[in-house]
Amino acid sequence: MSYQQEYGNAVNNPEAFWREQAEKLAWYKAPDTILQNDENGIGRWFVDGELNTCYLAVDYHVDQGKGDQTAIIYDSPVTNTKQKISYKELQEAVSKFAGGLASLGVKKGDRVVIYMPMIPQAVIAMLAVARLGAIHSVVFGGFSAHELAIRIDDAQPKVVVTASCGIEIERVIQYKPMVDEAIELAEYKPSSVVLLQREQCQASMVEGRDVDYNTLVDSSEPAGCTAVKATDPLYILYTSGTTGKPKGVVRDNGGHAVALNYSMSTIYGMQPGDVFWAASDVGWVVGHSYIVYGPLIYGCTTIVYEGKPVRTPDAGGFWRVAEEYKVKALFAAPTAFRAIRKEDPDGKLIGDYDLSALETIFMAGERLDPPTYHWTVEKTGKPVVDHWWQTETGWAICANPVGLGTLPTKAGSSTVPVPGFNVKILDSLGNELPANTQGTIAIELPLPPSCLPTIWGNFERFKQGYLSEYPGYYCSGDGGYVDEEGYLFIMGRTDDVINVAGHRLSTGEMEEVLASHEAVAECSVIGVADKLKGQVPVGLTLLKDGVDIDEEQLQAELVAMVREKIGPLACLKRTIVVPRLPKTRSGKILRKLLRQIASGQEYSVPSTIDDPSSVSEIQSVMLDKGLVDDRSPEEV
Ligand code: COA
Ligand code: AMP
Repeated sequence: MSYQQEYGNAVNNPEAFWREQAEKLAWYKAPDTILQNDENGIGRWFVDGELNTCYLAVDYHVDQGKGDQTAIIYDSPVTNTKQKISYKELQEAVSKFAGGLASLGVKKGDRVVIYMPMIPQAVIAMLAVARLGAIHSVVFGGFSAHELAIRIDDAQPKVVVTASCGIEIERVIQYKPMVDEAIELAEYKPSSVVLLQREQCQASMVEGRDVDYNTLVDSSEPAGCTAVKATDPLYILYTSGTTGKPKGVVRDNGGHAVALNYSMSTIYGMQPGDVFWAASDVGWVVGHSYIVYGPLIYGCTTIVYEGKPVRTPDAGGFWRVAEEYKVKALFAAPTAFRAIRKEDPDGKLIGDYDLSALETIFMAGERLDPPTYHWTVEKTGKPVVDHWWQTETGWAICANPVGLGTLPTKAGSSTVPVPGFNVKILDSLGNELPANTQGTIAIELPLPPSCLPTIWGNFERFKQGYLSEYPGYYCSGDGGYVDEEGYLFIMGRTDDVINVAGHRLSTGEMEEVLASHEAVAECSVIGVADKLKGQVPVGLTLLKDGVDIDEEQLQAELVAMVREKIGPLACLKRTIVVPRLPKTRSGKILRKLLRQIASGQEYSVPSTIDDPSSVSEIQSVMLDKGLVDDRSPEEV
């Protein structure tokens, strides 16, 4: 079927379309009702269906006689380890760990926080939680104890699963002290912590609370799969919003399984048994969907890579893994390829490996800049697919659907809406804009399966943040335009969210940290263009009257505070002192204007401005300090 036919079917007759997709899965009770509004008025998928996501991802394949097929390849250049885990072995490991969690009191609907590095036990823990019908919340290892504490308080987990350490190239990062500190900081106290001791570092245990991972597994009986409703939550994944409090994106079981299963063939062109590699981290949505659930539900082999694109040991790491395991589809953030390009600009290392099994390279997580796109196509000779998605959707909103016959690509565009997503470009009044006109990217409701139905414990925040601005639409928070052929171009966030090395961060949250410094009267954090990471945050600070502090010392203190409160992944390395920040007459900092100046965009000064001369003043400070992106569109 062509892309156009498939897209038309999904948008014009969504219930028939998604019923057909749902029939491809092994439900305990197949759904009769495909789409129905819930008590909040949100369209929910497969409401009377019952299933278990772990069953689909693991046991189903064993039942189909594929138990000996490799489910997970663990490749860890940082520990010199390689391991293959078959579906049968995965079933044993997951059911035993699920039994262990059950013995700690975890049951359907309970939450379990997972704070782990990229090791198979992280995936096993996620699947084990799903097996029990419980809800996991994975927290990325680069977040600080403070961030972990916020998530523990919000999710209220019965158990936290962790490992003694992660390894960042050659540095051992101790995880357990962070878990201990987070639990100390959090008001809510989980009853148990399950700790996997890694040989690189032994962590201390808290008597009466901590349980050793291996001892727990050895002493537990395997647990079976618990049936859940399609609309029961599978996981909560926290993502950055515009304030300091992260949003717990809720993913349900049924819609998620159906959408991911559909995407594996349609978007990624995979067949069961193929090797799919998302070089991300299980702490991000890409890791949830395409290291764990998508490939496993579809019966592929997935790779858990504990390494970086460069320096583990060199810029050929990706190509080595692709050759060694005959990877058919490789998926990573553009930053990873910019890092490889920086170290191997001529792509010499690519030639050292046989990439004949690799059919397509997928990129997402941040804007794919045309130079990185062209370099990757030229040096690898492979098609490169840019696709746009968000934690909120759990899968791609726009892509070049390889399984429906790849469309011609356009550098800078994430191609066309995926079947199920009715994408519109709106002006500030909610009117649809014509081709080639930039506006807010919105998706007409109902959203297709897998998209969030709410924010954990806070439907009001979901309504206010996504649904209120344009009634009848989901507002994506991204701006962009569609060209005359229907290709979508994402131009960046319209809110206070930035993308640093493919990691989504809130400038508002960083501002809250900077503002808590005793010398700082006011501040604004903006994303500034960076050749490697796409964007990096820079803090503009205004000192309190009479404060005399050395600018470098202040910067060092602020940088340390952000590392402590948010984590190293925030990458805030630079702050500057400014004489004034442009504000409205009511005293609101004009953040949008600052963002526009930093990105070298045209801007208009709002009529509500307090003093128009503050704009030229801040612009010249930012130019002076090299904070304005003055590259031409061809260079970007
Ligand atoms: N646990 C603990 N710390 C972590 C971590 C983790 N899982 N991941 C990152 N960090 C730390 C890093 O060690 C670094 O700390 P430092 O400031 O003390 O050096 C900091 O967080 C920033 O990390 P990162 O943004 O990864 O920068 P880097 O310079 O170490 O590496 C790249 C640069 C390009 C190699 C790396 O950013 C990368 O691989 N990016 C791809 C991102 C990606 O896959 N995103 C997923 C979305 S699809
Ligand atoms: P996350 O929720 O962490 O996946 O981040 C989602 C945000 O990343 C989106 O709202 C976009 O701003 C950005 N993003 C993701 N994919 C792309 C892409 N292909 N092109 C441009 N921006 C992207």
